[in-house]
Amino acid sequence: MAARVAILTDRPGWHGRELQRAFRALGVQTEFASLSDCRFDLETPRAGVHVPGFDSGPPDAVFVRSIEAGTFEQVTLRLSLLHALREMGVPVYNDARAIERSVDKSMTTFLLRRHGIPTLPTWVTERHSVARAVLMREGARGHELVLKPLFGSQGKGLERLGSTSTIPADSRVGGVWYLQRFLDGGEGNWHDWRVLVAGGRTVAAMLRRGRSWVTNVARGARVQAVDAMGELARLAIEATAAVGADYAGVDLMRDASGSWFVLEVNSIPAWRGLQAVTPVRIADALAGDLASRYLCSSRIRLAPAPMR
Ligand SMILES: Nc1ncnc2c1ncn2[C@@H]1O[C@H](COP(=O)(O)OP(=O)(O)O)[C@@H](O)[C@H]1O
Ligand SMILES: [Mg+2]
Repeated sequence: MAARVAILTDRPGWHGRELQRAFRALGVQTEFASLSDCRFDLETPRAGVHVPGFDSGPPDAVFVRSIEAGTFEQVTLRLSLLHALREMGVPVYNDARAIERSVDKSMTTFLLRRHGIPTLPTWVTERHSVARAVLMREGARGHELVLKPLFGSQGKGLERLGSTSTIPADSRVGGVWYLQRFLDGGEGNWHDWRVLVAGGRTVAAMLRRGRSWVTNVARGARVQAVDAMGELARLAIEATAAVGADYAGVDLMRDASGSWFVLEVNSIPAWRGLQAVTPVRIADALAGDLASRYLCSSRIRLAPAPMR
C-alpha cells in the first residue's frame, strides 16, 4: 500500500499543490487537513490523534505547512496535537519542538548563540524601563535598534528606533520588547539573504533587495537566486540544526566588513518567491527529504532529490 502523508494547512493553495505533486511523483498519497479539524481521540483505550481523511489509522508522516493563528488556547492545543503525533511515532516535518523554538524569536536567538552562530546583539524584556535603558545605551554608542514582534513574520510590525525614539507601549508588543541592534545596509542598499535548508543541505538561496530596510518578499523585495556556498551555506545549515528543524528558511545579513549574521530561522517557510528565481523544484526537495528519512523505502519511489 502507498504511504500516506497528511499536509496540515487550512489553505492548501500553491504550496499545497506543489507538495501534492511532489509526493505523488514519489508514489506517496497526500490528504490536506487543517490542524483545527484534528482532534485528540481520548475514547480509544490507548488514545490517539484523529486527522481528517485518516480514519483507518494515523498518517505515515505529517507535513506542517501552516498553523492557523488563534487564541493562546487554540495554538497550544494545535501544538499539543503535533507533539502527540510524535508520541504516537508519526514523523512530523517540522516537529512541534522545532516550530516552538523558531516561532519565538527570543528562543531562536538564544539557541543561535548557544551554538556559537553569529547573530546581532539582542535584548528581550518584559520591562518597559529595561527596554528604554537599552535604547539609551545603544543610542549613546551610535546604534539604532529594531523592535520586532516576538512571533512576527513577513516583516510585519517591525520598527526602527533611534536614540530620540520612544519605546512603544506594552500593548503594541504583547508585553515583550524584542530589541536587536540595527545593521545598516545603507540608504537604498537594503538587502539580505534567504537560504532554504532541508536534511542538512542547502536547497536554494536568494538575495533579497528591499524597497525599504525590511527586505521580505511580502514587502515587495526584488529577489535573485544565488549559490549558497561557504559561510552562507554553513551558517544556514547550522542555524537549522540549532533549532532542531528538518527544514527551514534562514535569513542572514552581512556587515560592511563582510561578517555574516543569522537574523532568524523560519520553520514554516513559504517558498514561492524563492521558487520564482531558482530552477530547483523546491517541493520535490522537501518531499524527497521527508520521504527518504521518514517513510519506509519499500513504500515510496525514490528518485534522487534535486538538491545542490
Ligand atoms: N537587526 C536588523 N538590522 C537590519 N535589518 C533587519 C534587522 N532585523 C530585521 N531586519 C530586516 O527586516 C526583515 C524582517 O526581519 P526578520 O527578523 O526576518 O522578521 P520576519 O519574521 O518578520 O521576517 C529582515 O529580512 C531584514 O531585511
Ligand atoms: Mg524573516
